[in-house]
Amino acid sequence: MKKIILIGFMGAGKTTVGKLLSREKGMQFVDTDERIVKEQGRAIPDLFAQEGEPYFRRLETDLLKRMQEDISPCVISAGGGMPVREENRRLLRELGCVIYLTAAKETILERIKNDGSRPMLKGGDLKQKVEQLMREREALYRQAAHIEVRTDGRSVRHVVQIIEQETRRFG
Ligand code: S3P
Repeated sequence: MKKIILIGFMGAGKTTVGKLLSREKGMQFVDTDERIVKEQGRAIPDLFAQEGEPYFRRLETDLLKRMQEDISPCVISAGGGMPVREENRRLLRELGCVIYLTAAKETILERIKNDGSRPMLKGGDLKQKVEQLMREREALYRQAAHIEVRTDGRSVRHVVQIIEQETRRFG
């Protein structure tokens, strides 16, 4: 197993699931948002506000390219917008086994409603924003993913177990 990459919408559980999965498998955990923040020395809302979204997207692609050179196995939680670029979808699939974590929009809304740290959700009606972005992105997540795992109504541990079973079959 090369790497396990978790993709999906904000609030799908990528970070929470990724942390437990990496512990269980004894693999390093990498959060692309955290990496970018550390490398840039600025928080994500600041990067969006000061440099704009395209700049952030370029940083994501650049990070993905650098990750191809690191052959050590790890669990990666990818920022929610990572699979939107076609180039990123290809790079993600080349990295390892890509898992699309899904959740119903009601679940997503419940999980992110009090979080003001996500620039893509700022301004306007949160529900409408989430619905529109989820609609725009669903097919792209599916294109990037090898495996899809639903998280609604499942504990983190259960989701991790499913991923372990599925990735074992993936090889
Ligand atoms: C984004 C998702 C965020 C972060 C940035 C943009 C998106 O990551 O990369 O705010 O476009 O969906 P999480 O999915 O970890 O919240």
